[in-house]
Amino acid sequence: MDTRTRAVTPTRHLARVAVAGAVLALPGCSGGAPSALDPAGTGAERVADLWWVLFWISMAVFVEVMLVLGWALVFRRRRDATVRHGQPLRVVTVAGAGVPLVILVTVYALGLRDLAALGDGPGPRATTIEVTGHKWWWEVRVAGVSGATANELHIPVGEKVRIRLRTADVLHSFWVPQLMPKTDLIAGELRETWLHADRAGTYRGQCAEYCGTQHAHMAFLVVAEPRRDFDAWVSRLGAPAAAPRTDAQRRGQEAFVQGTCAGCHAIRGTEANGQVGPDLSDVGSRWSIGAGAVPNDGGHLGGWIANSQTVKPGNYMPPQPVDAQRLPDLIAYLQSLT
Ligand code: CUA
Repeated sequence: MDTRTRAVTPTRHLARVAVAGAVLALPGCSGGAPSALDPAGTGAERVADLWWVLFWISMAVFVEVMLVLGWALVFRRRRDATVRHGQPLRVVTVAGAGVPLVILVTVYALGLRDLAALGDGPGPRATTIEVTGHKWWWEVRVAGVSGATANELHIPVGEKVRIRLRTADVLHSFWVPQLMPKTDLIAGELRETWLHADRAGTYRGQCAEYCGTQHAHMAFLVVAEPRRDFDAWVSRLGAPAAAPRTDAQRRGQEAFVQGTCAGCHAIRGTEANGQVGPDLSDVGSRWSIGAGAVPNDGGHLGGWIANSQTVKPGNYMPPQPVDAQRLPDLIAYLQSLT
């Protein structure tokens, strides 16, 4: 053994592991990002409870291993003097086979129990929301309602809502850490999950399966609100978009409908009926542009229209040759669509 290997003593190695563990644990405490350990609905509560059980079992195993290690070190030194013949075998049997068997059976049983609970979805008459994953945004519809929106879905608080999942292209994964574990979207398959929120609030969701360069910018929001507000959201989805009220907005609408925008985007109640990109009927009220890429304000909207490739490289919207004089009108119109 050379001196470099010798330099890492077991104590020093343990200290390094402890520091690494503490550093890894830090982001979990920093707030901001949604945490599966801060559940707000039935599905995520199951997952969080199981997580804590696994955590405490891991802690117990760690302590057990350290005790056995200590015992082994002592035993090795006193090998010839005090330890009787059967003792090592008994320790290996109990600590190495008996305890793991009990742990594995317990965890397996708990896993089965939670799988069954997560499979207990909403009844046949529950509200159904249809979500389609695209590279890189989420199309959102309510079953039986004509309109669509993007990257935001609403649910009535306290009710189980069925979520039907499809993908328009590659694998994606629908995940709302505070409400429900992940469900993958698989090409050619109709998948189903459900959402339930105990308390009103806005919960961030994220695509959880790598799906290309802009996988990270495939975020969405789930707004859990009282039934009355949810019903209002559904009726807005079925209604025409807001009509322009100012001259600038009217010019913007004209530019949108007659220009290239309408080839890919729809705005309900206008002739724009493109089906390639997100429906923009409520784009003015959205929480972000580009599924979490940038904030939704005039500056970012203008930048996105002119050349979204500088904002979210690789997305399917090509740079738009919009007349510099028309751009403020387009922005005014799109911002009025709330
Ligand atoms: Cu979609 Cu990752």
